[in-house]
Amino acid sequence: MKVAVTGKGGVGKTTLASMLAYGAAESGKSVLAIDADPAPCLGAALAFPPGKLSSLTPIAELDQLIEERTGAKPGTPGGFFKINPRVDDLPDRFSITHRGIRLLEMGAVKMGGSGCICPESAILRALLTHILLYRDEIVILDLYAGVEHLGRATADAVDAMLVVVEPTRRSLTTAAQIRQLAEDIHLTRLFLVGNKVTGQDDVDFIEQHNPGIPLIGTMPLSTLVQQADRQGQALYDLAPDLRETAAQILADIA
Ligand SMILES: Nc1ncnc2c1ncn2[C@@H]1O[C@H](COP(=O)(O)OP(=O)(O)O)[C@@H](O)[C@H]1O
Ligand SMILES: [Mg+2]
Repeated sequence: MKVAVTGKGGVGKTTLASMLAYGAAESGKSVLAIDADPAPCLGAALAFPPGKLSSLTPIAELDQLIEERTGAKPGTPGGFFKINPRVDDLPDRFSITHRGIRLLEMGAVKMGGSGCICPESAILRALLTHILLYRDEIVILDLYAGVEHLGRATADAVDAMLVVVEPTRRSLTTAAQIRQLAEDIHLTRLFLVGNKVTGQDDVDFIEQHNPGIPLIGTMPLSTLVQQADRQGQALYDLAPDLRETAAQILADIA
């Protein structure tokens, strides 16, 4: 099963991704969690030991390897480089594992702009395609925004794309944009998850402004989220209610 988590910044994508990763790992399956945020923080949300985390290098920062594989130095626009470099060995070589979850960080492409074509983005794109099409494990993809990492070739491999929203207009506007982009690449299995919900009013607000994505779960606004962060613990270990929500979401999209 391959699950992508998207939504506006700050809505709780990483929080949800961490809950799903532990929820899936709990059932004994091997899980690959991918942090595609240029400022990675999924490892912290999963409470990977700091010593282990500091040994993890984001793929985009592997300058020498990127040059070997693509034939061009990272940070050099234009020029020639391979757009389909070999990447099949990267997930095992450049990841760390903790409590049954393998974590991989994509890292930041230094030269800006979405749709940027450079050696780093070629590696990341090829890697994501490889993982979605060929890795035989549960993949939880923490996408920092939108669907720009995905394309037509990978849309079919995504079993579910979870769009996280909070009870705010802005996050629902972003959800509508994501829905449009997903439609463009023929990705249809979209589900909405409401986060930071304080009551029925919030659920009603989300449904009133829902751009037509089925709502499959809600998570309450909880002080445990901050507490987990401050104590360096996984939210999964602190919040039994949220564990249930994660299990139910995983069951619904399976
Ligand atoms: N259910 C929740 N209750 C309280 N705070 C939350 C909840 N979900 C997320 N947060 C807080 O909101 C902020 C953004 O969450 P995060 O998961 O990092 O979002 P994203 O990955 O979408 O940017 C964090 O400070 C996190 O602690
Ligand atoms: Mg995040």
